[in-house]
Amino acid sequence: MMSTQQHWEIQASFHRESRVVCEPGLIRRGTLMAELIDARHILLIHDPLVAEHAGILVERLHHGGRTVAVKAWTIDERDKTMETVQRLYEWFGHNLVRRDSIVVVMGGGVLTDTVGFAASTYLRGIAWVAIPTTLLGQVDAAIGGKVAVNLPHGKNLAGAFHLPRAVYVDPDILKTLPLVQWQAGVGEVMKTALIAGGTLFKQLSGSPVRFGDPVWPELIAHTIRYKVEIVNQDLEESGPRLYLNFGHTVAHGLEQALGYGTITHGAAVGLGCRVALVLSETLLGLDPHVRGQAETWMAIWKLPMTISGVNWDQVLRAMGQDKKADTGGQRWILLEQIGKPKVQKGIDPDLVRRVLTNVLEENHAV
Ligand SMILES: NC(=O)c1ccc[n+]([C@@H]2O[C@H](COP(=O)([O-])OP(=O)(O)OC[C@H]3O[C@@H](n4cnc5c(N)ncnc54)[C@H](O)[C@@H]3O)[C@@H](O)[C@H]2O)c1
Ligand SMILES: [Zn+2]
Repeated sequence: MMSTQQHWEIQASFHRESRVVCEPGLIRRGTLMAELIDARHILLIHDPLVAEHAGILVERLHHGGRTVAVKAWTIDERDKTMETVQRLYEWFGHNLVRRDSIVVVMGGGVLTDTVGFAASTYLRGIAWVAIPTTLLGQVDAAIGGKVAVNLPHGKNLAGAFHLPRAVYVDPDILKTLPLVQWQAGVGEVMKTALIAGGTLFKQLSGSPVRFGDPVWPELIAHTIRYKVEIVNQDLEESGPRLYLNFGHTVAHGLEQALGYGTITHGAAVGLGCRVALVLSETLLGLDPHVRGQAETWMAIWKLPMTISGVNWDQVLRAMGQDKKADTGGQRWILLEQIGKPKVQKGIDPDLVRRVLTNVLEENHAV
């Protein structure tokens, strides 16, 4: 059931204040948020695909006599590198960035991670504001202060915890998002519904949630709220933040073995959730109806349920789950019940292999 609420504020409360505002139409209405009203010197970097929204923001910022430098920039996962960060540093230098400047980034997770990392290190850290423009960015990448770029030997290896002063989430920006990018984000919403339970789970189950359905602003806000609550307890991922990795052991293994970009992260997370749910049924007695529910969502969102042509040895190696790896320390996030995740160590590698192939291989699908 959709409620009439159309504005959410979720307050983070660790080292420094950081808030998330979620409101459809936030940017188009052109109301400047507190963090930007006070700023005198702003650097805005945006994806050219959201130029219209960026234009509205720039016009409003100019009104108050602020200095605004604007850069439209297309980058993809391959450009999430130190070279790109270096170019950003040069642009900051050229524009005389000071300690009281604010960097604003309006784009998907790739742009947010890269610009956030540059902001975290330039002058030992300058303030930034994120305006995520993909579903994945809004519910995950821009939330929680993790920023990073890739190194030649691995993804997100150079990074920092640098909370944005604010995150402005406008679900209306998602109207231009292609379906495949939508699917990249829904895997995380499903993951959150499973580990958070409560309202989010009920809402996802209670309505046929399709791309563009008016219930989405609320679902986005609930997904953000859960992540913020977890991050408030555990910014640096030593306890409850690990729960957010539900479905990700397999997802990362698949992405690495297949080659990044071959499968979207959301599709990999969906597949990973199915495996984690079956393991939860086997090891923790989870009710199989939970997986039934997850599979219904995946069918509605057209996320793949199985995958073909995969070298499972490679996937297991990437997961650190092959025979040779020390599995004693390998941590899985499983589910005892909806909304009750648990860290599980030392799962038998033979069981992992059996479940993985039985559940995900095209012709074996359970
Ligand atoms: N820091 C974190 O905590 C965290 C969490 C999850 C993911 N991530 C990172 O996020 C990245 C993936 O982010 P992503 O899925 O947003 O991909 P992305 O940033 O590459 O964006 C996907 C595509 O959508 C386009 N796009 C952006 N906004 C649009 C809009 N409103 N309309 C139409 N097209 C639009 C982009 O130009 C791009 O082509 C990965 O690098 C991942 O590591 C980070
Ligand atoms: Zn993820």
